Amino acid sequence: MSAPTSLPPRADRPWWRDAVTYQIYIRSFADANGDGKGDVEGIRSRLPYLKKLGIDAIWITPWYPSPQNDHGYDVADYMDIEPDYGTLADAERLIKETHDNGMKILVDIVPNHSSDVHVWFQAALKAAPGSIERDRYMFRDGKGVHGELPPNNWQAVFGGCAWERVIEADGKPGQWYLHLFAKEQPDLNWENPEVREHFADVLKFWLDRGVDGFRIDVAHGMIKAEGLPDVVAADPKAEMLAPENRPFWDQDGVHEIYREWRKILDSYPGDRMAVAEAWVSPASRIARYLRHDELANSFNFDFLSSPWTPTDLTKMINRSMEALAEVGAPSSWVFNNHDVVRSVDRFDLGLLAGNANTTLERHGDASKFDLARGTARARAGALLMLALPGGAYVYQGEELGLPEVRDIPEDRLTDPRWEMSLRTDRGRDGCRVPLPWTKDSSGAFGFSTNTAVTPDDAWLPQGSAWGNFAAELQENNPDSTLTMYRKALAIRKSESGLGDGAMEWIDAGPDVIAFSRPGNFACYVNFGKAISLPHGAEVLLSSAPMNGNEIPTDCAAWVRLSVL
Ligand code: NOJ
Repeated sequence: MSAPTSLPPRADRPWWRDAVTYQIYIRSFADANGDGKGDVEGIRSRLPYLKKLGIDAIWITPWYPSPQNDHGYDVADYMDIEPDYGTLADAERLIKETHDNGMKILVDIVPNHSSDVHVWFQAALKAAPGSIERDRYMFRDGKGVHGELPPNNWQAVFGGCAWERVIEADGKPGQWYLHLFAKEQPDLNWENPEVREHFADVLKFWLDRGVDGFRIDVAHGMIKAEGLPDVVAADPKAEMLAPENRPFWDQDGVHEIYREWRKILDSYPGDRMAVAEAWVSPASRIARYLRHDELANSFNFDFLSSPWTPTDLTKMINRSMEALAEVGAPSSWVFNNHDVVRSVDRFDLGLLAGNANTTLERHGDASKFDLARGTARARAGALLMLALPGGAYVYQGEELGLPEVRDIPEDRLTDPRWEMSLRTDRGRDGCRVPLPWTKDSSGAFGFSTNTAVTPDDAWLPQGSAWGNFAAELQENNPDSTLTMYRKALAIRKSESGLGDGAMEWIDAGPDVIAFSRPGNFACYVNFGKAISLPHGAEVLLSSAPMNGNEIPTDCAAWVRLSVL
């Protein structure tokens, strides 16, 4: 398997072809103002940590004013900062200091829907059917004699009907509006030129302030099939999330938007970019978002969704590399984000990321979970990911080996999925628990500068054992997961053959994923019984202690192959 052959040297190609980007879930990263929620100043205070980690860029989840019904993915104003998180001046300083520390910065853009408190939506509620105010969203008359039935059979991603009926000025139930997510997240109408113009202005607003790019939320959802046809499926509820043939996912019209956005990005210096959050498949559909006049990156969700087996992972790697080579795009490998169960748990229990309707489906059987085995697999997975050609996205806490938090009390769950699934699916809070920075529990294990904040006071409770994973404890421990990430990222920088470029598979048996990269570099990931490295191979880094030249089960090794 070879990646594009005509790549210029790393220093001369766009940074986003190779970058390792660190996702900051702002609410849970670091709290500088002492209110138990993360903020912009908290991020700024941790820039030295991020620099030392060795990542190339940070991506900050939505930091805009928002009622936080979906923790910022319900935006009330796209051109300001949530007061709980700081001010625009704080954001500007963070952008500058991130650059001063040699890192790029991406912000999250949420164009599929706004918050229901956005001035546009409030105006739409007050305006009459057919008005220009309503046309910015997806209002429709209902079906049935009195319009009492929703306009079609679409289901919301979080559960339940995707339509909400409004009360009109005469006090009677009237039209319905579409919300593919929570009802507090009305879908915008991307056929309306004013919506397009506004988002062009939003992009420029942040580009003018120096951001290097955007992570595009629900990048495959903005255009809906003409006439909003019913989903044709045996069970629309069960199949609503399936990416193929859904009248609201991956419609051709989205590409026109990205061609326009690319022109805006290219009108600024410095390889500004965008990364798509597009849950589409097969890989050839993802490649369409990465054509030369569209976006730079798209998260490789096929990879993220793969079970921890050599066959599945190899298949996903091959498929996406082949599809992306067609358009000359790099892959963006990812194993974790704020929407999926952490890889420590997933890899241990063989869970699939993404689609779930119940807690058991999402989180698996807690009684079968083995932290040590899950941690070993997640560490091996990290070395696999960071050795593959292209860029990678690392989610905060991944570098600490954080597991999923499974015991948040029900009355503390905040993910809208919990209520919208009629309390059958606890949702995504367990991967969003505030980071442990110190061993000592005060300030919620150092998450907050306010030492009076206890682990239970943090916006999501941390549990008493959270300090075992603290960054402080891992800092000088040569065997810690943090140290392994730091070493891996340093090697990635110093090995000119890592990052984007060619790779060749090595046949090392059915239980092993092995491949070489330029410079006699090779990565071995062992899923089965202990195996021996080829004679003369020098170990550069391993995810678990090696036994001489033997790689144990669930361990990855980066090696320099002997040239003889
Ligand atoms: C994807 C985001 O990652 C997720 O957190 C959010 O709930 C949905 N999009 C809706 O914006």
